[in-house]
Amino acid sequence: MDKPRVIVTRRWPQAVEQVLQRRFDVKLNERDAPMSFAELQQALREADALCPTVTDGITAELLDTADMRVRLLANFGVGFNHIDIAAARKRGISVTNTPDVLTDCTADLAMTLLLMVARRAGEGERELRAGRWQGWRPTHMTGAKVTGKTLGLVGFGRIARAMARKAHFGFGMRILFHTRSPVHAEVRNALGATPVANLDEMLAECDFVSLHCPGGAATRHLINGARLAAMGSRAFLINTARGDVVDHDALIAALRERRIAGAGLDVYPGEPQVPPALLGLDNVVLLPHLGSASDETRIAMGMRVIDNLQDFFDGRVPQDRVV
Ligand code: DGY
Repeated sequence: MDKPRVIVTRRWPQAVEQVLQRRFDVKLNERDAPMSFAELQQALREADALCPTVTDGITAELLDTADMRVRLLANFGVGFNHIDIAAARKRGISVTNTPDVLTDCTADLAMTLLLMVARRAGEGERELRAGRWQGWRPTHMTGAKVTGKTLGLVGFGRIARAMARKAHFGFGMRILFHTRSPVHAEVRNALGATPVANLDEMLAECDFVSLHCPGGAATRHLINGARLAAMGSRAFLINTARGDVVDHDALIAALRERRIAGAGLDVYPGEPQVPPALLGLDNVVLLPHLGSASDETRIAMGMRVIDNLQDFFDGRVPQDRVV
């Protein structure tokens, strides 16, 4: 029997590409540049499964391609807001993602941003590299203490819980969270985390707010000017979720006027473009979407895609089925 035809939209870790090539009839993206709309259309006509990432817009228009052969979109990544799920469902295409394996690394990166922005690590490094460091002095580049402060989590899924664990047990932080999903008392008690039903009330209590909700229409600009105002001038915003969750015009104004203390960002609307005004601000730490970027995690994500492909083509329900 012929091996299923699988098309991968970006380079994956070598160890994963090798396994993929052994198991399937694979077309890799040697250039590692995002595929154009026409290239994605061609891939949908040619492949049994397409393996996209966050850089591929799998829109309703794309999924309207005539003569599609694809039956599975096996996403490399946990977030799938770049895929029009309703359109996939309508066309009878299954979708899978890669949860669990990136939980700790993404929470680690959120903690990295939190520490960097609070303790002015980016600013300090820029000063030193530019040869501007004048030596130790009691008033030099003092930032905000992290240990013992209050952290508010927006969303309380796997990554938020991992962050709660690190922040509470590692840094003695008080943990608040806001979510619409029910959370068992045992789970929240084990993490020392307190639910707050009203988001604005939670924001007003926090020294740090970290976003862990999915992207997409339901959460677009959830953090807007009014909510940044509710956070107040001592609070820092951390975003490792999706760029669209934050109204960036409002964020830039709040940072510029010091109406919030600072922000640590890993994600942006319209990546890889970054709003130019952010680049000139010292009270923001900017990373290029590195949440899951450890060798171990990127390999585990790829292997998880392979497990999903294998399940699907062997006639089992993939463990990470979205639709
Ligand atoms: C994820 O897994 O969702 C990462 O943000 C990359 O898409």
